[in-house]
Amino acid sequence: MDTHPLKLKVQSVVAETPFIRSLVFGVEGGAVPRWQAGAHIRVSLPNGGDRPYSLMALPGLAEGAVALGVLREEMSTGGSQFMHALKTGDIVRATAPVNNFPLQGGSAPALLFAGGIGVTPILSMAAELNARGIPYRLHYAGRTPGRLAFLPQLQAICSKGLAVHYDSDESRLDVAAALGDAPADAHVYVCGPAGMIDAVKAGALSRGVPADRIHFELFKAEQPGSPNKPFEVELKSTGQVITVATDQSIIQALEAAGLDVLYDCQRGDCGICQCGVIAGVPDHRDVILSDDEKASNKVMQICVSRAKSERLVLDL
Ligand code: FES
Repeated sequence: MDTHPLKLKVQSVVAETPFIRSLVFGVEGGAVPRWQAGAHIRVSLPNGGDRPYSLMALPGLAEGAVALGVLREEMSTGGSQFMHALKTGDIVRATAPVNNFPLQGGSAPALLFAGGIGVTPILSMAAELNARGIPYRLHYAGRTPGRLAFLPQLQAICSKGLAVHYDSDESRLDVAAALGDAPADAHVYVCGPAGMIDAVKAGALSRGVPADRIHFELFKAEQPGSPNKPFEVELKSTGQVITVATDQSIIQALEAAGLDVLYDCQRGDCGICQCGVIAGVPDHRDVILSDDEKASNKVMQICVSRAKSERLVLDL
């Protein structure tokens, strides 16, 4: 059986932000089966694997076309790099749409939360709620202006139903306030990084929203190309040596050793945890350092990055 029966031809590629591209595909020799908001397809990769991407109901999308939003991830297994290298006319294979994150609750109002590339299914939900005449509010959060993809499209879809939040200023997302403003019978949907999902779930449950009205989909970063290995971190100031286990970040290992560390996003995109490297070779997994900075091996983000060498000496 052909597990990737859809043959998709790239019609256009747009850089929505420095890290996120939208790709629009036409379907060769057939049509995409009908799908609803929250659905995804899995695109086949040259390495034999595949990657899920949410289907986007972008405004003005031609009947039968397929739109995806793709984040370029550092240290990926190749999926996002392959997708970002696609050009007009290239062809990929994909599965039929599958939906594990559908709108529920009939005509009940909806409260939508999106973070980062998690906006892709949420955008489609807003479009579908519009079409069904169901009231909703969409809270879209990101680090700083200029890093939120698909804002013009969301403004066109949502009009006054969109609230944009930046962690860098006073508009920062207040989950409790957003939940407090929502109708009591609203269904809550969230797609974004794990921290955002946890905050929305905990906030909704504490306000008495039943668990079956809280719906979420984790935006899973690609797994790094090589499995995590333990390594050592030496602190320049004291000479203390701390082992970072396979399932620990450097920050977690430092905190477990009783050290006070400055950090914020823990996704490698805010720069707060940046640290000087005195010796050793970092395994960079952030999205904030430039290629030159990474190649210098003089600086790293200790929330997500690891080590290629057995020991790193850090300027701590
Ligand atoms: S805490 Fe944001 S980059 Fe590390």
